[in-house]
Amino acid sequence: MTSHPAASPPPPVPDSIHALDHEIRSHWPSIQHLLTELLDITPPAHDAPLTHHSTPQDITRIRRWARPGPPQPLETVIGEARAIFDHRVRINHPLFFGFIPSGTIQLSWVGDMLMAAFNAHGGGRTFGLGPCVVEEELLRWLAARLGLPARTAGGVFVSGGSVANLMSIAVARDQKLDGNGQAARGVIYLSERAHYAVAKMARGLGFADRQVHRVRCSEAFELDVEDLKEQLVADRRQGLVPFMIVATCGYTETGTVDPIEDLADIARRESLWLHVDGAYGASVALSHAHAHLVAGLGAADSVAWDAHKWLFSSFGCGMLLVRHRDHLRSTFGVHSELMDQQSGGLSEQPEPWDLSVELTRPARAMSLWFMLRVLGEERIGRMIDYGIDMADSVQARLQAREGWEILTNAKLGIVTFRYKPGTCSEEDLDRINTTISETLVEDNLAGIFSVRVSGVVGLRVCCITTRLSEEDIDRLIPQIDMTAKGVSKHF
Ligand SMILES: Cc1ncc(COP(=O)(O)O)c(C=O)c1O
Repeated sequence: MTSHPAASPPPPVPDSIHALDHEIRSHWPSIQHLLTELLDITPPAHDAPLTHHSTPQDITRIRRWARPGPPQPLETVIGEARAIFDHRVRINHPLFFGFIPSGTIQLSWVGDMLMAAFNAHGGGRTFGLGPCVVEEELLRWLAARLGLPARTAGGVFVSGGSVANLMSIAVARDQKLDGNGQAARGVIYLSERAHYAVAKMARGLGFADRQVHRVRCSEAFELDVEDLKEQLVADRRQGLVPFMIVATCGYTETGTVDPIEDLADIARRESLWLHVDGAYGASVALSHAHAHLVAGLGAADSVAWDAHKWLFSSFGCGMLLVRHRDHLRSTFGVHSELMDQQSGGLSEQPEPWDLSVELTRPARAMSLWFMLRVLGEERIGRMIDYGIDMADSVQARLQAREGWEILTNAKLGIVTFRYKPGTCSEEDLDRINTTISETLVEDNLAGIFSVRVSGVVGLRVCCITTRLSEEDIDRLIPQIDMTAKGVSKHF
């Protein structure tokens, strides 16, 4: 007779889930209070500090909190979270002009909250039908606004521009290179000023750095088409296999846009894939007054577009749009018995997980949808126009003052300039402008950072935050001017 071991007691459950639910219910007033407070303090008010000068003791305290340890009262942890988040640069502050500022509005995080609270599976229609249908339809609408063909275009939501660029390179590789070793000779072309995220992603996909060829920029800070043509001829002569051009719509430093339609002609003639890194600038397709500046986007094979840059979303929301949605599926649609069991096999209609590197993911489209649906198409277009007009305003005010030189004209909400008092050497001018930026940030006056343009150091503002007003600019320009004069006295 087989002897069975005596039935062992179930493992101890530290807290029954019901007790936990009950406990959390007792915290509702604190959580509701937190939400009200967050609505109040995000984005930061004008008088909130841009940055916090953290001490080593602050960092030690944060490290101590970072480990879970014994249970803590919820109120205590909320307090810790607030103190931890205090140690940041408020890049959604109305006076933060650096990098690509975050222009989030509260609606974006309320959308995130809905997305997280329902926690629908964003990767598959089988599990997240409603949100996946919204994703498909929203992508169709966005693609149409770019001018991509309605019948074939599609896309997928991703975590941001880097991932969208990575996926575009993988699709271009599969569409343009044969599987018989051409990849080792394949070449991607992008301008010398293209965002480093593109080259980094090419490396991540196994392309050597020597396979990413940099094309000169013209004096207008756009990819020089003639240089590209010459490189294509020379590279083919050497046995290399050009397969992809990456154009930029909205250079991070200058806001300029490559001549996308000319590049599309070359791509068609040479059978190359044309990808546009529109992480920043593609949003201008939704503007009312300025959409013509990005008119070429509809000629691309694929476009990277970040909602967390200029569609006022919080971080983690971007899109890859493609001329032919089948191209995404042929790179990322992989048969798996596990998933086929779940979804009944590859259907006519691909699941989002067949179009992306990601499987399980949040229903990101729902967050963007929530905000766009509340604001409406008309208003979002005006919000984008506003940023473009504000950069024009900054430029006009600087030009009206002695001693200021515009380095690149306002384009897509970005203007670069420098302080150039009469008699200084170029080296001193570089140091003066670097110090102006450091002083403005240190004194919490404005998040304005230095940039190197045409071999000189200047200052750059990106004006896409809708909370920035004409009055702010009226106040800020004299402050910058005074700071510049103060700094230059020491040179
Ligand atoms: C033009 C451009 N492309 C790509 C990226 C990378 O996008 P992400 O930071 O969303 O990965 C950026 C980021 O600033 C960018 O400005």
